[in-house]
This record gives sequence, C-alpha cells and structure tokens, in this order.
Amino acid sequence: MTRTSKLRQTPQWQALQAHYEAIEETQLRELFVTDATRAARLSAEALGIFLDYSKNRLTGETLELLLALAESAGLSAKIKAMFAGEKINTTEGRAVLHTALRAPKGASILADGKNVVPEVHAVLDKMAEFCERVRSGAWLGHTGKAIRNVVNIGIGGSDLGPYMATEALRFYSARHLTFRFVSNVDATDFAEATHGLAPEETLFIVCSKTFTTLETLGNARTARDFLLAKLHDPEAVKKHFVAVSTNAEEVAKFGIDTANMFGFWDWVGGRYSYDSAIGLSLMLAIGADAFGEMLSGFHAMDEHFRTTPPAQNLPILLGLIGVWYNDFFGAQTYAVLPYDQYLARFSAYLQQLDMESNGKRVTLEGDAVDYETGPILWGQPGTNGQHAFYQLIHQGTKLIPCDFIGFSQTLNPIGTHHDLLMANFFAQTEALAFGKTEAEVAKEGVKPELVPHKTFPGNRPTNTLLCERLTPSMLGKLVALYEHKVFVQGVIWNINSFDQWGVELGKVLAKRIASELESSAEPELTHDASTNNLIRRYRGARKG
Ligand code: F6P
Repeated sequence: MTRTSKLRQTPQWQALQAHYEAIEETQLRELFVTDATRAARLSAEALGIFLDYSKNRLTGETLELLLALAESAGLSAKIKAMFAGEKINTTEGRAVLHTALRAPKGASILADGKNVVPEVHAVLDKMAEFCERVRSGAWLGHTGKAIRNVVNIGIGGSDLGPYMATEALRFYSARHLTFRFVSNVDATDFAEATHGLAPEETLFIVCSKTFTTLETLGNARTARDFLLAKLHDPEAVKKHFVAVSTNAEEVAKFGIDTANMFGFWDWVGGRYSYDSAIGLSLMLAIGADAFGEMLSGFHAMDEHFRTTPPAQNLPILLGLIGVWYNDFFGAQTYAVLPYDQYLARFSAYLQQLDMESNGKRVTLEGDAVDYETGPILWGQPGTNGQHAFYQLIHQGTKLIPCDFIGFSQTLNPIGTHHDLLMANFFAQTEALAFGKTEAEVAKEGVKPELVPHKTFPGNRPTNTLLCERLTPSMLGKLVALYEHKVFVQGVIWNINSFDQWGVELGKVLAKRIASELESSAEPELTHDASTNNLIRRYRGARKG
C-alpha cells in the first residue's frame, strides 16, 4: 500500500510554502535596489571558492527557513552518520564512505569496526608505484616496448569520473602518454578510441566495481581480441591489462593477473569512486603527487562540510538553494555552466552524480514522495552554451537556475582571452538577473513592434562560484562540493541517495532481448506487441 510522505506536512515546509507565495513575484532588481548590503551578505567563501548567491530569488528570511528545514530533517546528525561509517545506504545495507578515500594517512575511519584508512593508503601506494613504472617507461609491454597509450574501459562511475578529471587536469598531465576512454557497448566507441593505436604500446585499464557490467566486459573482451590479433600470445594480457574492481574472482576469471588488480570497497558508490583506484588512468596522467593534491582538496571540502556552520557551509547553501527552486518554484532542471574548457565534461559527470543519486520516488521508509526530488542536471562549458541554449534561459518560458563556475586565474594566459571569457561570465549572470525592461529597450529607439522581442524579463536565478585556479586540489574541492550538495538534498527529501535500483530493469530486459537477437532460430517473443514488432523488424532488416 502506498502511504503519503510527511515532509510537506512539517511546519518548516509549510512556512517555506507560505513564504514562497509571499515572495514569488519579487524581482531581483527590487531586492538589490532596496538592500545595498545584499551582495556582501548573500555570499560565502571557503578554500579558494567564493560563492555569490545574491542573484537568487531569496531573502535572508528564505535562508533562515531553509536552514530550519535542514535542521528539522536532521541534517547535522546525518552528516555525522555518513562520516562515521553508519550504514546509511539502507537498501543495500552499506556504509557510504567515499570521504575515507581522501582521509590522510593516520586517520581512523571505521567500517564494520575496522579502520579502512590503512587499506585505502595501501592501494594508493600500489597505484603510485605502478604509475611511476608506466610513466617512466620501466613497465614494458609484451614485446619489450614502453606504454604510450592508456585506454580506460568502464561505464558510469567507472568512466565519467576518470574521463572528466583527466580532461579537467590535462594541463598537468604527462604529454607523452595518450589517454582514451571507452564506455559505450556500441563498437564504434571502441573502434574509434583504439584507432591508430599500436596494441604493443597500449595498456587497457578495465574498471568495473562489480566486474559484471555487460558493456565493460564486452569492451574488455574486444580489447583482448584487439591485442591478441597482433601479439598472438595470451601471456600478453598480463602486460597490457590491469583491472580496478571490488571483485577479484571475476577479474581472475577474465584472465587478468590479480597482482595487477587495484581494489576498492563496497562502501564506495560507483558515482563516488573516481578518487579511489577507479582514478588509475587519472593518476597515470598527472602522477601520484598531483593525485594526492587532488585528494587533499577533496578532504579539505569534506572538513569544511563536516565542521562549518550551515549558514556559511558551501554544500549546504547550494543544496538548500536547489531545494528552494526544485520544490517551491517548480523548476524541473538545473544547469551547471563551467567557464573553463578543461571542465568540458564536468556537467556530464555531475549528471550521474546528481541524477543517479537523487532520482528517487520513494522515501527511506518506502513511502511514495508527494514532492519533487532530484532535478534534471545539464550544462556545457561557457561560452559555447551562450551560442546554443542560453536564449531559452534568458527569454524562454522555463525557470532554469544555473551555477556559473569560473576561475580568477587561467592556466593558459594567452592575450586577452581570459578577460574576455570572464567578461562573458559576469555579463551572463547580470543579464539573467536584471534583464532589460520594455522601457529601457524603447528608450534605445527600438521600433515598437520589436520591443517585446528585445525585452529581457530578468529575475533568472544564478549562483556564481568564483574559484582561484583550476588545480588538482581545486578540482577535488569542486567535486566534493557537489557530492555533498547532493547529499544535503537527499537528506531533505528523505531518500536514499546511494542506491540505483532504477537501472536494473533495463539491464535484465536487455539480457533477455540480446539472446533473442542472437538466436539463429526465430525466437518466441513474449514482450508487448510494440517491442515484439520492433525486434522482428530489426532481425529482418539486419539479415537483409
Ligand atoms: O548501471 C549503473 C551502474 O551500476 C552505476 O551505478 C555504475 O557506476 C555503473 O553502472 C558501472 O558499474 P561497474 O563499475 O560495476 O561496472
């Protein structure tokens, strides 16, 4: 039986609802004109990240009410529970300890009564030693040649994180190595990623927490064929394949020497794992020291999240502002817009982090929610997005809260590019917030019939994250910031942000359909009429 969840009945929620009705028409223009201290008041700074959230449709009162909601949801106790290794992933009976992946040596974090930090550092040391051998050319392939190409095979959390971070930190990477990422079961992905690579100079990293994922194992088998087609000796696999997994048994079955396996643990969720051994390709790219700096950045944000009062706590602020739009303004989507080309894959990475975590329809107790949970997250780096979808954000009918992420210092100081980039960065949030009124447009001498077209309503909310410089440490801070933002929202919505049952049904059905597509005899199809028809059509057309 479906019960109704209680969140909307809480006094804190109802106070927010009443407050929303009182201020929903309030204009940002008005809020700025009537309060000279607004920009200074509605900002927070920590760890080289300055968050200006004054261009949001909220007041000091909104913030107080949101903070009260967080308190009534037991946020501080839940933060403690996560850091303490309690089994807060209740549907899988697991602790959620990605924060232990970046704990300094000597820290003690218990999972099932056992300090996991020494194991974490043992794996990091093993990764560092391996990466040094590959980067220096000491690790030789089967024919005695050094490795020049690294191909990461994985999907979801075993691809998006390492891929995003390898791009994000490319400035710091070893340029004598080529990095490619294969995720899709579509053979085109493998074919294009390996195009032109010499197998005898290529290292495949098979990344899979479970080591049972159809796409990854399919691509790993294809990679093995690719290698053996040239080297003709199964022994070559040992020198050209390593694995990252929690499943040693399946790794061994595949034929990878478990001495060349880098482990992690079931208390690390896939989408929270790129700072574990899943980041091996990243460590190969940037080296162990820079990887360590990134982990320090993650840890610094963990500490900020754990210890800073809520009103100055960056993940809590971002999380609560997101709830405000998602649940009261009815915003369906949320854009993350990094003004840095190195962060080209940041939004794609955040999509899994946010949408797989908070795309849930029942509470922890299994009751159907009667409020909105996780938003649709999307985005592209600026300024490219400006010439594509910003039109809709400025003048369309939808409310799309945005996070703008920019850096004060560029890694590539060429001419005036960075000032131009940042001029756009600041201009966009200004235009979105304050727009241009009909009167202002008319005053410019615009023909009356064009005035409505050239008017910008404004009042479109943004957060600005102005960061110092894109370093490994800063990347760690930014990722941890969003990890914890997602956590805060999951706590408010009383959902499990750490399971992902919603991806299972499609996987099971795909297995069944795969055998129907592969069978030489006409299979007896028992799906719905539409699916049966499509399968028959595909089989017929493929034969043709
Ligand atoms: O299908 C979703 C998922 O389970 C993700 O949560 C995970 O990141 C991805 O598949 C890959 O899983 P694995 O690392 O076990 O191959």
